[in-house]
Amino acid sequence: MTFIFAHRGSAGTHPENTMEAFVAAEIDGADGIELDVQLTADGEIAVIHDLTVDRTTNGSGYVNELTYSELSKLKANYHSLHFFKKSCRIPSLREVFEWLEANDLLCNIELKNAVNPYRGMEEKVVELVHEYCLERRVLISSFNHKSLVHCKEIAPAIITAPLYNEVLYKPWEYAASLGASGIHPKLKSISDREIIDTMACGIAVRPYTVNKEKDMKRLFAIDCSAIITDYPGKAYRLREQY
Ligand code: G3P
Ligand code: CA
Repeated sequence: MTFIFAHRGSAGTHPENTMEAFVAAEIDGADGIELDVQLTADGEIAVIHDLTVDRTTNGSGYVNELTYSELSKLKANYHSLHFFKKSCRIPSLREVFEWLEANDLLCNIELKNAVNPYRGMEEKVVELVHEYCLERRVLISSFNHKSLVHCKEIAPAIITAPLYNEVLYKPWEYAASLGASGIHPKLKSISDREIIDTMACGIAVRPYTVNKEKDMKRLFAIDCSAIITDYPGKAYRLREQY
């Protein structure tokens, strides 16, 4: 069965990377959520995609120059197309983990450390995963592949998977060279043949971001390991046909 990961939560219908989007993902039938993390000025792990808060909130400035207290006062759905009476906040990773204690969803944590390396972020994330005993439910991904090697060194039991958006030759060999057991390619960066060959080598394939019905159907038909989608509800209903 192809697992369904809700990209930034159910971001197609809810403000991205908010508790509201994660709760919606569970209701939509997702097997897991995908979220983005960065470090704040006071070393908290905040769940937010961009390096700045400008696009998604009513504030401005770099995430790493604001404290978590400052971040958490911002309206995380300020520019969102989805109408919400209640204002949504930027959650901390701890807050998401507390919520995960009440369900059995998987959690794909994307370390947003390709541009700003956020020294020490891997240790902080891994420590929190251990504190909440989530080693079997967390997958760590990043476009910073050296960081994934480091994660594997400090936490061998946690699954890692490189994100990439170009075409890779023999992606299964590349994943193995990083100690990763999966790959997270951009959908256009991998063919069905390569997905099948990669999975045959024991490497899971979880393409992003799979929003079109025809792509979902194609990936369900070849039993792709997982998809990462903004629309987990649509994916869940389609998957029932396979
Ligand atoms: O994890 C897949 C996807 O989230 C990577 O791209 O920019 O949406 O974080 P982005
Ligand atoms: Ca992401």
